[in-house]
Amino acid sequence: MDDKFNKIRQLAKEKKAIILAHNYQLPEVQDVADLTGDSLALSIEASKTDAKIIVFCGVHFMAETAAIVCPDKKVILPVEDAGCAMADMLNAAQLREFKAKYPGVPVVTYVNSTAEVKAESDICCTSANAVQVVKSLDSKEVIMTPDRNLAKWAQRHTDQKIYYWDGCCPIHDELTVAKVKKARQEHPQAVLMAHPECPPEVLDMADVVRSTSGMLAYAKESDAKEFIVATEVGLLYPLKKQNPDKEFYAASPEMICDNMKKTTLDGVLRALEDEGPVIEVEEDIRIEALKAVERMMAVPRD
Ligand code: 13P
Ligand code: SF4
Repeated sequence: MDDKFNKIRQLAKEKKAIILAHNYQLPEVQDVADLTGDSLALSIEASKTDAKIIVFCGVHFMAETAAIVCPDKKVILPVEDAGCAMADMLNAAQLREFKAKYPGVPVVTYVNSTAEVKAESDICCTSANAVQVVKSLDSKEVIMTPDRNLAKWAQRHTDQKIYYWDGCCPIHDELTVAKVKKARQEHPQAVLMAHPECPPEVLDMADVVRSTSGMLAYAKESDAKEFIVATEVGLLYPLKKQNPDKEFYAASPEMICDNMKKTTLDGVLRALEDEGPVIEVEEDIRIEALKAVERMMAVPRD
């Protein structure tokens, strides 16, 4: 394990590569990375890095976002078929048809989407900035894609009318009130932190609703000692690592994104050795998608 870890670090240095890992990745992959974070933090990091190679330990749309913002860099996704069930729920033709129902209404697309869907959108958002992005638009009506739960969450925080695409993250969407009640009964003192991809009735029960990095920040600052975590279970690792004196419990142990677990140390090492698989985005799509991503990055964060 140490040997593999050291080889990866050595190779990354030799090749001027930066390793980015999402907060849901396997513990050893998070440990070997230069940086870990949520989708927004990693996109910003990708846009700022002067590394020649970006090894993106996450899922396809995340590497694609890095390729959109860094056309001069080689963006590698160690496991090419690590996809996102939510991103697969909407394609560009479907979005064009949906937009035709609401002429002139701006489209906010969650970064958990394909490059071609971003290219059809006016602005992107992440779970960390969805409400601010919607409010930044000078429009009484807004379309949000592809996550209905994130859209319903944003709707609670604005008077603008939101029309949403009926997609979701199956891992978050299947978290039920009954499962959360059970976790609450087992840990009555715990603060309930939930990701906005959870269904509205679960968010109603939450004490705080945050992106993955938002939960990490909240847990660090909070005086509470126990937390129930309503998101993919991978987040428990950095939560525990950063807060050894606090306890974290999964809202449901079933919340596992298989695609996020496909990347291993072997996979990262192979990706660095082979300098692939490389993720590329067709230039005309990239230019349009970049406009939506850059517009999002210009929206101030709270
Ligand atoms: P975050 O941007 O909050 O890390 O979420 C990404 C994701 O895929 C959630 O399922
Ligand atoms: Fe996509 Fe859900 Fe997995 Fe996040 S947890 S990558 S939204 S399938």
